[in-house]
Amino acid sequence: MRVKKLNIVNFKNHGEKEFSFNKKINCFVGKNGVGKTNVLDALYYLSFSKSFINSTDSQNIKNGEDFFSLRGVYQVKEMEEHILLSFDKNKGKTLKRNDKEYEKISAHIGLLPLIIISPQDIKLIFDGSSERRKFIDSALSQFDSGHLIALQNYNRALLQRNKILKTSSGGGSIDPIILEMWDAHLISNGEKLYENRKKFITSFTDKFTEYYNKISAESSEKPSLKYFSQLETENIADLLKRNLHRDEFLQYTSSGVHKDDLIFQVGDLPLKNCGSQGQQKTFLTALKLAQYSFLSATGEKPILLLDDIFDKLDPFRVNSIVDLVLKDDTFGQIFITHTNENDLGKILEKTGEEFEMFEL
Ligand SMILES: Nc1ncnc2c1ncn2[C@@H]1O[C@H](COP(=O)(O)OP(=O)(O)O)[C@@H](O)[C@H]1O
Ligand SMILES: [Mg+2]
Repeated sequence: MRVKKLNIVNFKNHGEKEFSFNKKINCFVGKNGVGKTNVLDALYYLSFSKSFINSTDSQNIKNGEDFFSLRGVYQVKEMEEHILLSFDKNKGKTLKRNDKEYEKISAHIGLLPLIIISPQDIKLIFDGSSERRKFIDSALSQFDSGHLIALQNYNRALLQRNKILKTSSGGGSIDPIILEMWDAHLISNGEKLYENRKKFITSFTDKFTEYYNKISAESSEKPSLKYFSQLETENIADLLKRNLHRDEFLQYTSSGVHKDDLIFQVGDLPLKNCGSQGQQKTFLTALKLAQYSFLSATGEKPILLLDDIFDKLDPFRVNSIVDLVLKDDTFGQIFITHTNENDLGKILEKTGEEFEMFEL
């Protein structure tokens, strides 16, 4: 799939802008703060109905205005799709596909698959484990809707169990039958989530390692992804039973798959503490490209957004990434931001591919 046209009105720092895109490579160039990332965010918004930076819709309206609107014309399989997303301070959000308003915004998600690689990805390394679980679960949910359902059921049961644990601390006693009921939900869904995540990470790791090695030119660096779960050593039913007293004291459920994590290492060292900025960026880029490759296996090639991707990488790694995303026909339409038009132009000219440069 690809996006042919984008029209922006009052979105962040942009008043009115219109772009006609190249089938393959599109670049946004200009100084810091001109709004390059904001244009990528507009494309992200049209795919996911939200910003990848600012989760409050109203803060994406250009200062002093009352609304913003984003229109995209897409080619999805043989169909042309016109998507309109607008947000008005008084009327709220509207999302339309070919002039017909969606009843549920969730029905839109998946129509326009998109992957973004951006400086925000660093959160995956430095934030808590929930960011990494979200990464695994969203990658999995894209092609296995059963995974998403198990996740929702698990989270609902967890919430209910924690409520019961809270009431018990106020002097109330826990009804063992109700507790057992929520435990049963945690057990059946938790086992499913554990099996899915474990299987996924095994196959995902191969793709990830392949990309990491391509970008770093088979350097001696040994990147690894390790799945951590308490369920590796004990089944969830035993875990819940064994920790019940502690959970009553803590007033929340302290064990289960909501404690799972993905451990990032280079060699035997944690990426967080020991990776150079370039290694961290290589790691994150390989993770996202592997995610892209999984997502494209489901059908349409997603749009790939590369925000400030070349910053902090040596020229060798920059060339490897360009070669990778242009020569491997896994990848479809690509959007790149960069501060220096000449540098980017030189890199792209070497590839012989046609590209469009938009100066902001
Ligand atoms: N709601 C808004 N109204 C006006 N300007 C905004 C709004 N949100 C963000 N901006 C401006 O957008 C600019 C950043 O744009 P960005 O796309 O991140 O730039 P870059 O070209 O460096 O990627 C900042 O100057 C910021 O003040
Ligand atoms: Mg930017």
